[in-house]
Amino acid sequence: MVIPVPSYVTDYQPGSGPRRAPRSWLHSDAPRLSLNGDWKFRLSPTARVDEAAAAPDFDDRDWDTLPVPSHWVLHGDGKYGQPAYTNVQYPFPIDPPHVPDENPTGDHRRTFTLPDWDVETIVLRFDGVESIFKVWLNGTEVGVGKGSRLATEFDVTGLVRPGENVIMVRVHQWSSMSYLEDQDQWWLPGIFRDVTLLGRPRGGLEDVWLRTAYDHETGSGTVTPELVAHPTAFPVTIEIPELGIGHIYRSIEDLEPIRLPQVEPWSAERPRRYSATVRSTGEQVEVQLGFRTVRIEGERLLVNGHQVIFHGVNRHETHPERGRVFDEDHARADLITMKRHNVNAIRTSHYPPHPRVLELADELGFWVIDECDLETHGFGTLGWQGNPSDDPAWREAYLDRVVRTVERDKNRPSVIIWSLGNESGSGANLAAMAQWIRSRDPERPVHYEGDYTGSYTDVYSRMYPSLVEMASILSDSGEIMGCGPAEAQRVRRLPYLLCEYVHAMGNGPGAIADYEAFLDVSPRYHGGFVWEWRDHGLLTKASDGTPYYGYGGDFGEVVHDGNFVMDGLVLPNDQPSPGLAEVAAVSQPLLFRRDGSTLIIKSRYHSADLAGLRLRGLLEIDGEPAVDTELAVPDLAPGGEVAVELPEKLITADVSGEAWLTVLAELAEPTPWAEAGHVVARGQWPVSARVAPKPIPVRAAESVPATDTVELGPAVFDATSGTLTSLHGVPVAGPRLELFRGPTDNDRSSSRGSYELGAPEETRGEGVKGPSSAERWRRRGLDRLVHRVLAVTASDTGLTTRVRVSAANSGLFVDVDQLWTVTDGELSLRVELTPSQGWDCTWPRVGVRFDLPADCEYADWFGTGPLESYPDSAVAARVGRFGGSVDELNVVYSRPQETGHRAELRDLAIGTGEAVRLRVATLPDQAGHRPGFTLTRHTPQDLDRAEHPYQLPSNDAIYLYVDHAVHGLGSRSCGIDVLPRHALWPGAHTFTLTFPTP
Ligand code: GAL
Repeated sequence: MVIPVPSYVTDYQPGSGPRRAPRSWLHSDAPRLSLNGDWKFRLSPTARVDEAAAAPDFDDRDWDTLPVPSHWVLHGDGKYGQPAYTNVQYPFPIDPPHVPDENPTGDHRRTFTLPDWDVETIVLRFDGVESIFKVWLNGTEVGVGKGSRLATEFDVTGLVRPGENVIMVRVHQWSSMSYLEDQDQWWLPGIFRDVTLLGRPRGGLEDVWLRTAYDHETGSGTVTPELVAHPTAFPVTIEIPELGIGHIYRSIEDLEPIRLPQVEPWSAERPRRYSATVRSTGEQVEVQLGFRTVRIEGERLLVNGHQVIFHGVNRHETHPERGRVFDEDHARADLITMKRHNVNAIRTSHYPPHPRVLELADELGFWVIDECDLETHGFGTLGWQGNPSDDPAWREAYLDRVVRTVERDKNRPSVIIWSLGNESGSGANLAAMAQWIRSRDPERPVHYEGDYTGSYTDVYSRMYPSLVEMASILSDSGEIMGCGPAEAQRVRRLPYLLCEYVHAMGNGPGAIADYEAFLDVSPRYHGGFVWEWRDHGLLTKASDGTPYYGYGGDFGEVVHDGNFVMDGLVLPNDQPSPGLAEVAAVSQPLLFRRDGSTLIIKSRYHSADLAGLRLRGLLEIDGEPAVDTELAVPDLAPGGEVAVELPEKLITADVSGEAWLTVLAELAEPTPWAEAGHVVARGQWPVSARVAPKPIPVRAAESVPATDTVELGPAVFDATSGTLTSLHGVPVAGPRLELFRGPTDNDRSSSRGSYELGAPEETRGEGVKGPSSAERWRRRGLDRLVHRVLAVTASDTGLTTRVRVSAANSGLFVDVDQLWTVTDGELSLRVELTPSQGWDCTWPRVGVRFDLPADCEYADWFGTGPLESYPDSAVAARVGRFGGSVDELNVVYSRPQETGHRAELRDLAIGTGEAVRLRVATLPDQAGHRPGFTLTRHTPQDLDRAEHPYQLPSNDAIYLYVDHAVHGLGSRSCGIDVLPRHALWPGAHTFTLTFPTP
């Protein structure tokens, strides 16, 4: 018998059966039974499966066991298929609403005992099933649920029976709805959120919405209750004990707002919540209230009368082992990490998260854009032909999704904007969603980036515009993408935000600070949301059992988008990346400026003053603390500016050393997200006049060495190559010119234009389409330089080497002169680099490499740190003394790439404590600039070749790179290239190192 594919798999209906009206996610005392736990499981390769297993007496003893919630592809070691990653591409033919016959279908079956509940109705709730499912209870079909990250409730009152019940849930990986769920993430089928049986009491509260408002002029608050309840539920009491409120309502008609003369408002900075209890005759519900009013006034988005500025991130639900299965501790830890890095906003890209996430946002304090579960990006490939967003057949499905989003999350004070979805083109169905939101919740603005002309949304939102476009949008005239003149005028009247900007893929993003600067250009700009919060790597194993974080292509996918899913500020192992430190530094809520002995503090808080903070002034000389003093905390209203005098002792320093003043704003008391002492903002300035470098006399040696080796002070050289063989008794090879770096994901990308091809930033903004930087570097052979010694000469006090460096089949070269000198027993090296004519690509770096023994594993340095920094990601770097092991100095990006550069090195000791084995110091040039360093186990060529960290060779050496300059990072993997001012163009370089006695 041929079993047909069930019609619900490919119809347009948003679901079927006794689906209940969407309602708020509530904490109720009504009885509930969690159906999470072990279920019997059977996977079929298609949707053509008979329904015999739905029968209560079906024998499922030979089925496997699978936990619920889960994604079956993340269990069974490949037995149930594999996860698959695509960004825009649909992993099936674009033939809507059809899907292939190859449609993994998972049957989940279990029994449960109905508790002895005295209730009116019984409801079966699913909080998230990907992609669609059909449910049977005791052999009878219940209905079909769709909308992967949305809740479905079925009324099963007539189907449950006392005692044991049998439930079967059939989940199909692909369905018509997959066309609406083309988000850039893993495809992970399964019942991945909770399944619960709910007893609905007589006289219960079907839905509760306590809409709150705050009047910032009077300080008063309002609670406007909206209830869905049967008349027998009344009287209903609403209590807010902290405010002494106890209101009794006799009927629905009687639901008057509660007016409160004085309340404390809720904001992301002061997430003040009040517990409210709503009690009917049959049920009690707890709601955490936050008083706030969202309003757009002119071009500004205000909460409680004050403009909101987003220092936000895009947050997907992702966990390296659980996928999208919620783990509250993990989610809380992530939100705490956000708070600790000055992130104040979350866009729930690109679907509503587990409802607890929004409660955590209420509790810890974030502005949230809550986004509907919708993306049809793959239709872009077809020029948006057939896009569901403008096809009436899909209208009901679109509306169903937005209703379920808003109804579920409407009580959350953190949610201040509703978003229709992501990258779904444009069309009438999106406009209809917006219209519905306006009728249901007129207070919260509607967001959708794809509405380029602002025809149905309330805020103007863009992703990844260039800086030139930013300037144009924020000016009063000029073209705006996708807009005619009238439309450009319209969007210029709306609050402007970046729902996505700077792409945190691999090492990067660069230029965060350049975007931040637009906050000073126009109040219309409300900041943005970095793409994205964390890498989506899934923990897997190499063939030899080595664990690693997999990305697209690691699971045998037919089509995939590689490591584009590893684009977060947090690495898969939860480690914050240096990019996150840069976000924290750029986003700090207080900005410090110094003008002589005056410190000017500018507050960027929305609603917090400085209570709860303490200010510290720190004077360090040569990186050692000299003065550490508490400064008086001035009164400073949110958004205000104040000047304070710095104590004399902080700004006068002994000029014989290098003195830096640091001002720190720290938490004075612990908060729910950080300990007392946590630094929220910092400013740093040099105090001493710059000391002019003491020139080192360099004497060019003239005679050819007569022996095989040359000794010069603490150094021994090979006379033929003129390179070191040992230094202070440590075997050392080098120096050797290096111009290459392990290309970053941004270096490898050609997805956007490049400035390298000669486009001036000012005129083009986007650069010119062309090959990636890595490609250009390879064409010029930077990854495979070869060396030819032109001359080695020596004297008693010096050794001079000239080397020509170039690549196979290239006429371009760099001449490198190394002038070694011993003066008063101290060894110095001057490196002079002279490129040939004709170089036409940037250089990733310009410096020299020293090969050290493998136990040179620890560095202490005076320079910038603590983390790596690059020309366009250096706000977080500060001058000081830092230390770390070689493994701590380098970031394990999921795809190996450049890491570990620390600019402006003064002095570096390699080895630990007593056992310092080598020291390298630098001299500043006339401009005060010094080289930076990288200490690593891997060469750029090693990094370039490996796809995953476990593929890196275990070298028997440590490499020290001393780079006079490095190329910026940019954000070209999805955004702008390294700006011309942060690019490293070929040129002559001279720098000087000394090698003090360890
Ligand atoms: C955006 C998209 C995101 C993500 C990002 C690149 O266009 O909205 O979901 O794909 O690009 O990582």
